[in-house]
Amino acid sequence: QFSWKLEDHPKLPKGKPIAVIVLDGWGEASPNEYNCIHTAETPKMDSLKNGAPDLWRLVKAHGTAVGLPSDDDMGNSEVGHNALGAGRIFSQGAKLVDSALASGKIYEEPGFKYIQESFQTGTLHLIGLLSDGGVHSRLDQLQLLLKGVSDRGAKRVRVHILTDGRDVLDGSSVGFVETLEHDLSELRNKGIDARIASGGGRMHVTMDRYENDWNVVKRGWDAQVLGEAPYKFTDALEAVKKLRAEQQPKPNDQYLPAFVIVDENGKPVGPIVDGDAVVTLNYRADRMVMLAKALEYEDFDKFDRVRFPKINYAGMLEYDGELKLPSHYLVSPPEIDRTSGEYLVKNGIRTFACSETVKFGHVTFFWNGNRSGYFNPELEKYVEVPSDSGITFNVQPKMKALEIAEKARDAILSGNFDQVRVNLPNSDMVGHTGDIDATVVACKAADEAVKIILDAIEQVGGIYVVTADHGNAEDMVKRDKAGKPLLDKNGNIQILTSHTLEPVPIAIGGPGLSPGVRFRKDVPNGGLANVAATVINLHGFVAPSDYETTLIEVVDK
Ligand code: 3PG
Ligand code: CO
Repeated sequence: QFSWKLEDHPKLPKGKPIAVIVLDGWGEASPNEYNCIHTAETPKMDSLKNGAPDLWRLVKAHGTAVGLPSDDDMGNSEVGHNALGAGRIFSQGAKLVDSALASGKIYEEPGFKYIQESFQTGTLHLIGLLSDGGVHSRLDQLQLLLKGVSDRGAKRVRVHILTDGRDVLDGSSVGFVETLEHDLSELRNKGIDARIASGGGRMHVTMDRYENDWNVVKRGWDAQVLGEAPYKFTDALEAVKKLRAEQQPKPNDQYLPAFVIVDENGKPVGPIVDGDAVVTLNYRADRMVMLAKALEYEDFDKFDRVRFPKINYAGMLEYDGELKLPSHYLVSPPEIDRTSGEYLVKNGIRTFACSETVKFGHVTFFWNGNRSGYFNPELEKYVEVPSDSGITFNVQPKMKALEIAEKARDAILSGNFDQVRVNLPNSDMVGHTGDIDATVVACKAADEAVKIILDAIEQVGGIYVVTADHGNAEDMVKRDKAGKPLLDKNGNIQILTSHTLEPVPIAIGGPGLSPGVRFRKDVPNGGLANVAATVINLHGFVAPSDYETTLIEVVDK
């Protein structure tokens, strides 16, 4: 008989307010000039690391430890927060799509049948991030899907590409477009009219998240649906090369302006029209939800769509289980159920969660197993600090860390919450820009925010759990297998904008921590999924039996 009721922990008391701090993109790596966390002044985080040795440790945050296909996969915020919140390791979107494609099951499902209805008379549009980064999507999955649809009756295919440079090296878009063009030309040889129809950099076109800036989605809509963009080319490879070379200031792949591909008469080759099918290729939700809404919702007022074509639209995955969005999808998402957030709320834990817009869904939606909304609005409060929009965060590396910390501090001091959870975005968001100096400033700002929150915990006699979701700022250079920085053809180091494979720290402490609590020695391979049971214990409960084991033990003192 299933019950939400958690048993009392035999040794740990209830009622201690707990701050759970997730430093986004804060991994542990050897100190060197490309380790911005090391370079930055981070006295608070240093003091945790150099404090009691059995209250600080590292946990795995990448690869199979967070449900990714292999240990060559770097961590990311989606899988990291899923693991932190859910306390178990679920096979994630990347893996689920891999298996569905490998077994061919993807083609048997209702989602595929639905888009297939348009193959005879309409065009199939594929929209998504074009890279092998594996965070939101993967090129090899697109390649398999192209083959799959062409074997199953698609006659006209248009690909709308979003260039990456964020989960992969800047400049790699050129190679990915070459690969795609090669595959499309093979389809053309088979008599299928297959082309790239539009494109743009992911951070400028389409892939906004958490409604930070609808203009980003609008730019994509204009290019993909309406066939309108500031730049027109007859060839996508030329588009990407020229836009990279000729724009001032020189854009990174992430920020390429929108372009459409036109025919010799200047007519766009692939606007989306009535009767077409559309698939959004990304399996990860956060940066596809906004487009999914624009493609699916009859009532929509976020921007003027001009035309709302009647299409058969499917997501690669279902992006939001609560909203049932989109209503058609090719692969079922991981069923992340019974998250620690839900358990705790059902056991009376009053919860406060906060971040700024660009990471807000990470500590709420991802934390709660890709579920939007509250479990119980009476007991929960989620606060979003508006992010600056329209900027790259290297120009504002402090972001809203101070504001988030102050909101958390006030929530702790109010006495109204048992758990106060935040995500501090700086090291990740600025790390992704590849600006090393700015990333150093970002890390310092995050450290200052940690101090503010820990001071409040000190004041109320509470407990803190400080950890991170994956690495980023601790290594800003691409390295060879031996760990040596790689140079490009001009002899410059190759800046690493992406996440890393590094482990992340976890520190616990605070005046409310029972004296005998310490990290166990017998969970050497502990990962992010072990954190949930740990936090549940600190709230005074035993974790559900199928959760990954707790990281702590209580010894008699
Ligand atoms: C992004 O979406 O910004 C990156 O692809 C991954 O970053 P995140 O996993 O830290 O959000
Ligand atoms: Co990131």
